[in-house]
Parts: sequence; C-alpha cells; structure tokens
Amino acid sequence: MNDVPAHPEHRGHFRPLLGGAVTLAVVVGSVAVATLSTAGTASAAASTLKAGAEATGRYFGAAMGADRLSDSGFLAIASREFDMMTAVNEMKPDATEPYSGQFNFSAGDSIYNWVTSHGMRMRGHTLAWHGQQPNFWRNLSGSSLRSAMLEHINGVLTHYKGKMPYWDVVNEAFAEDGSRRQSNLQATGNDWIEAAFKAARAADPSTKLCYNDYNIENWTYGKTQGVYNMIKDFKSRGVPVDCVGFQTHFTGGSSLPSNFQTTLQNFANLGVDVALTEVDVTNASTSQYAGLTQACMNVSRCVGITTWGIRDSDSWRSSESPLLFDGSGNKKAAYTSVLNALNAGSSTVSTGPSQQPGNPSSSPTSGQQGGSCTATLSAGQQWGDRYNLNVSVSGSDNWTVTMNVPSPERISSVWNVSGTWPSSQVMIGKPNGSGNNFGVTIMTNGNWTWPSVSCSTS
Ligand code: XIL
Repeated sequence: MNDVPAHPEHRGHFRPLLGGAVTLAVVVGSVAVATLSTAGTASAAASTLKAGAEATGRYFGAAMGADRLSDSGFLAIASREFDMMTAVNEMKPDATEPYSGQFNFSAGDSIYNWVTSHGMRMRGHTLAWHGQQPNFWRNLSGSSLRSAMLEHINGVLTHYKGKMPYWDVVNEAFAEDGSRRQSNLQATGNDWIEAAFKAARAADPSTKLCYNDYNIENWTYGKTQGVYNMIKDFKSRGVPVDCVGFQTHFTGGSSLPSNFQTTLQNFANLGVDVALTEVDVTNASTSQYAGLTQACMNVSRCVGITTWGIRDSDSWRSSESPLLFDGSGNKKAAYTSVLNALNAGSSTVSTGPSQQPGNPSSSPTSGQQGGSCTATLSAGQQWGDRYNLNVSVSGSDNWTVTMNVPSPERISSVWNVSGTWPSSQVMIGKPNGSGNNFGVTIMTNGNWTWPSVSCSTS
C-alpha cells in the first residue's frame, strides 16, 4: 500500500552531522553548543516538507478534494512536498453512505488510489460528526440513529480495513465551554462517543482511532479541558482511543496560543498520539506557522502536521490566504518558516514504550519456550507505518530465535543479531557478539499484529 523504505532506520532518523556534534558535546562541553546548532541547520537540512518531517519520524500532510485529481499544479506539489493526505469531504458520512445501507466509496477511493500510488498515506476523515450527515440520519433519532451511526462506522471501516494509519472517528463533539455539543448524535445518549470508538476498533483493529476538534489548542480554554477530561476518562476505563487531532484552524478569528505545546504534551501524557490535522493561519503568519510546527516537533508523541489544502486557492477560507503556497503554487514565506522549524526539530517521534503497536487485541508474545531459552518481546519506537521491537533472550548465550510475522507485515531490518531470511516474514537470528538483546523493525502494511517467536539452543 505504502511507499515504504526498505530500511527505515536509514531514512533520516539519525543526522550524521548532528550526531557528530552531540558526541563533541560530551568531550568539549560549551564549544559544542555552537557546533550543534550549526550542524543542525546547515548540511542536514531537508528541502521539502515531507523530508523535514520524516527526518524525525513524522509526516507532513495536506487535504484535497477529488476535484484536485485533474489539477496538475496541485498534484505536482502534493507529490513533491507531502506524504500524508486527508480527503476534504469525500470520506464524510454524507459522501460515503448517502442512503441507508448504500455505501459509495467512488470519490474517496479515487483520492485514496492516487495518494497511495504516489507513495503517500491517508488519514481517514471522518465517521461521526454533527456536520455533513446523510439526510436519512436527520430523520432518525434515539436508538435508530445510534444504530445508523454504528452501522456507518462498520461499513466504512470494513471497506478501508488495514488501509488507513489514522481515522478521525468522532469530530467536533464539544461546545466552547467544555460541555458536550448539542447535536442529534449527542441526543442518542452521552455514551455515543465511546460507542463510536468501540465500533471502530471492532471493525478495523489496525487503524489508530482519533478524536478531532478545533479550538482545543489553548490549554486554559474550557473546550480543551472538556476534551482532555473525556480522553482521560476513556483511557482510565479502557475505551479504545489512540490519538487526538488538533484541527489548528488559526483562521476565522483564532490564533496560536503560547501554551499550545503544553496542551499537546498534556494530552500525550494521557497515552495518546497527537497531531495537527487541519492547519491554516490567517495571512499565513510566519511566526504562528513556525510556532505551531515547533510545538509539534517538541512533543515526541506529535506524529505529524496536516495543512487544510496546499495553495491559498484550495482553502475553505481562501480570503484569509492561510496556506503555505500561493494560488500559483509558489512557496510563501510561511513555507520557509515551517521547513526551518522542521529542520531544527530534534525530538524523534516515539509513541511510548508502554503502548503495544496497533491492535490491542493481539497481545504481545512475551516469549515462547523452546529448548532452554526464552525470547521476550517488548515495544520499541512506533511510527505510522512500522514499529520496532526489542528482543531479549534469556537462558542461554548460544541461542537461535525464529521470528514469524503474518503477511502482509514484513521484517525489514534487524540489529545486534546475525539474521538469515527464509522469507521477508521469517527471520532466524543467532548471536553476533553483541550480547543477548537485539532489535527488529517491522513494516506493518496495515497489520499491527506482533510476531511469534521461539527460541532454541544449539
Ligand atoms: C470543511 C471543508 O473544507 C469544506 O469544503 C466543507 O464545505 C465543510 O467542511 N473542520 C473539519 C473539516 O473537520 O471537515 C471541515 O472541512 C473544516 C472544519
């Protein structure tokens, strides 16, 4: 599905010059500080948004409608600069299920097919929302509307099963004061949001399930607190929520709050990924664009940034000229401020060692006994399309570990082990002199099930 590198660890998570400067810092202290900043901004700088983001394991996304598929100027910038895409309207409830039980994925699929054939991935947007509902939802209420919503979620996620790294399951469910927004969905019962997330998890365990909203960037704002308390409650009760999307519309009278990074970090600390999902900024203020980019780059669970369109002429608020490219496709000053902030970023994405990749129903294999050794798996870093596992062997120094991942996952690289490869799904590892701990990177290709391992002594 994705244009994924064969050796993701070489994709730029390490910056040779930066690494050199860090080593120097250990040796000569303050002199190295100047060296560090020089090295960080000079030779290692990426020249596109996606390369800048990917250097720290993040993505840089945009939004498009199906009408842009015939706009060669748009498509050229999209494939050059972006590695993630959101459909502006084509995956919303009114588009995907216009009549009860009659799903229509033609427009969404046309975007999906172009995007994925150009090495990019998609964020799914959105499954349950007060806006852009099919007419038949408007004629329903109570348990019949609840059922329609759940069947809609099941139908859309079944169609896109294994194809989306993230879905905005519920969009804009809070009012400005932090209470629930009054809507026909809310009127089906206060548990409608958790019901939506549970249905989503059941339909596609591979996709990360996000709550998405606007005006939740300012930590002290009532709406931010309302959403935060819901996510905290969901996490404490095991309701499946994996991420929070901050729309980051600094248009229509909103602007960057100075505490945005605090907000992102506080949500991340609840155990969810965070992302900036619909960014636009009035007149493309360079300082606000730099600031919002830095806020994400400084939070290790901030997985990526998406702008709501590419050129000002693509924007839903085009009169505010809020995007990174002008109507002719030229880079604006804000583009440079974002790219510089991406290039200055140093915190590599980590979705947290305690979180098992993807599907929580596929519990980690904590080691299978074979002979007199045990191989134990634990989670390493995780990205949108792949994850690392640490393998710890006990019981013997002369071990053979056999690891199997289910297709279409594949083991893409290993370290601190001598591996042989009967297939890209199977790796047989033996000690290479580095001790009894080694690592693997697994490309998910949509399946986040952990491998099985067995250990034998020779
Ligand atoms: C907007 C689209 O850009 C418009 O084309 C459409 O008319 C209305 O919706 N928050 C969201 C997005 O989550 O889905 C909205 O997109 C913008 C606000």
